[in-house]
Amino acid sequence: MHLFDHKKELVSYLDGERKKNRTIGLVPTMGALHTGHISLVKKALSENDLVVVSIFVNPTQFDKKDDLEKYPRSLERDIGLLKTVSKKIVAFAPTVDEIYGDHVKSESYEFDGLDKVMEGEFRAGHFDGVGTIVELLLRTVAPNKAYFGEKDFQQLQIIRKMAEIKKLPYTIIGCPIEREPHGLAMSSRNERLSKTTREQAGFIHETLQAAKSKFGTENATTIADWVKSEFEKSPVFDLEYFEITDEATLTPMLKKQDNQKYRAFIAVYADGVRLIDNLRLN
Ligand code: PAJ
Repeated sequence: MHLFDHKKELVSYLDGERKKNRTIGLVPTMGALHTGHISLVKKALSENDLVVVSIFVNPTQFDKKDDLEKYPRSLERDIGLLKTVSKKIVAFAPTVDEIYGDHVKSESYEFDGLDKVMEGEFRAGHFDGVGTIVELLLRTVAPNKAYFGEKDFQQLQIIRKMAEIKKLPYTIIGCPIEREPHGLAMSSRNERLSKTTREQAGFIHETLQAAKSKFGTENATTIADWVKSEFEKSPVFDLEYFEITDEATLTPMLKKQDNQKYRAFIAVYADGVRLIDNLRLN
């Protein structure tokens, strides 16, 4: 498996592959790879001749220094895992210096308000950081298709918007959420939960499913109040937000429209770890 840590070498390798008419998929990650990431890699492998998996803990998307420092890093393990998946994977694991040089700063984007709600409201500057690194990775790799998980659904919509605004000619593909046996959405952060909390955290997904079953008959405010009351009863999980929004605009649902798609979004703290999840409602 090829492993690059410099853009220049990666670009020249990919140019050679493109000359041989090979199609290229891109899966951006921050490492600490788990089955959720690997599901994206497998989808990309099924649709492209080779797949670039980037592994880079992007400092500009962390609003809390502590969260950045505590983010799990396991490059050797990640590379070992990717080697078992396919020979057609190319790993790109640059240093912060290689990506940002002396300017560890984000670009400012206009995401049509998609960045002002939920994750954007609670994590200042987060999506400008995501936009900056994803734009750089897309322009560097110039993939036929790039793959992102619905686990971070707001991020996926923001990346689609960025690609549209910046007229980037790369197809953005959304992939379904992979879950642990108890229902918790897989995440590198889950490693920081105690064993019991991790098992109990299926509660988050169960609550989303219950919200979905109420969606047919109850309005968004009643459902949100019910979710809040469920979390108030829990000694382990603290609710940060629960929202039902239109899937495309991410604006809160006021009155249900028949032709619109809606999704429920949630952010929860457990053992000091922030967990997010979402579920399509109709
Ligand atoms: P990271 O959290 O490592 O996730 C990398 C990709 O894997 C994202 O597209 C994310 O949505 C997807 N993913 C994570 N958990 C998943 C799960 N349980 N099921 C399906 N897909 C899952 O998201 C980021 O990194 C960064 O913001 C990044 C896009 C790499 C920019 O730095």
